[in-house]
Amino acid sequence: MKNDIEKVLFSSSEIAAKIRTLVRNVLKDFRNEKTLVMVALLKGSVFFLADLIRQINRPVEFDFIGTSSYEGSTVSKTYVEIYKDLTFEVKGKSVILVDDILDTGKTAKIVKKHLLDKGAKEVKLCVLLDKPARREVDIKADYAGFEIDDVFVVGYGLDFKDKYRNLPYIAVLKKKHYN
Ligand code: IMP
Ligand code: MG
Repeated sequence: MKNDIEKVLFSSSEIAAKIRTLVRNVLKDFRNEKTLVMVALLKGSVFFLADLIRQINRPVEFDFIGTSSYEGSTVSKTYVEIYKDLTFEVKGKSVILVDDILDTGKTAKIVKKHLLDKGAKEVKLCVLLDKPARREVDIKADYAGFEIDDVFVVGYGLDFKDKYRNLPYIAVLKKKHYN
């Protein structure tokens, strides 16, 4: 896998430091909540969620939502489908939605609405990476780790064709591997 990497963008210690900052900001805003409720998107955000919650010295309830997106066949439109839904109630709760990367914003926007439709009191979005240049819908992260340019990254949960998720750092792939 290492030979496929063009450049490491963020090392595991840089990621760990950024997560400590994110947790500090989340805890400040959620100081009145005894238990934090987190919903993470499969599969890319599992490492991020695991590292986030182990920095939180308060009870945390977490669950996962799985989405897949596909292009419509007749009109050029992306659809986001939920293939795995929550197993607990979010009604009346403040929820922190956790995702690996905010790209076009379509996934986060749809899942945020889904949680609000289920009666969540509020939904705050926490992402490790943000690519603002790629945004297609109106959504902003409440907590964002690193802002990056329009480059495709892998590692620390992020994949290319389901590969590279287990790299401990975030990196750009060599061009030839996209083909
Ligand atoms: P969005 O709906 O376009 O914001 O896309 C969100 C999803 O696309 C993320 O949760 C990732 O799974 C995937 N994605 C977007 N950019 C990248 C990237 O640079 N590397 C790997 N996956 C990405
Ligand atoms: Mg993905």
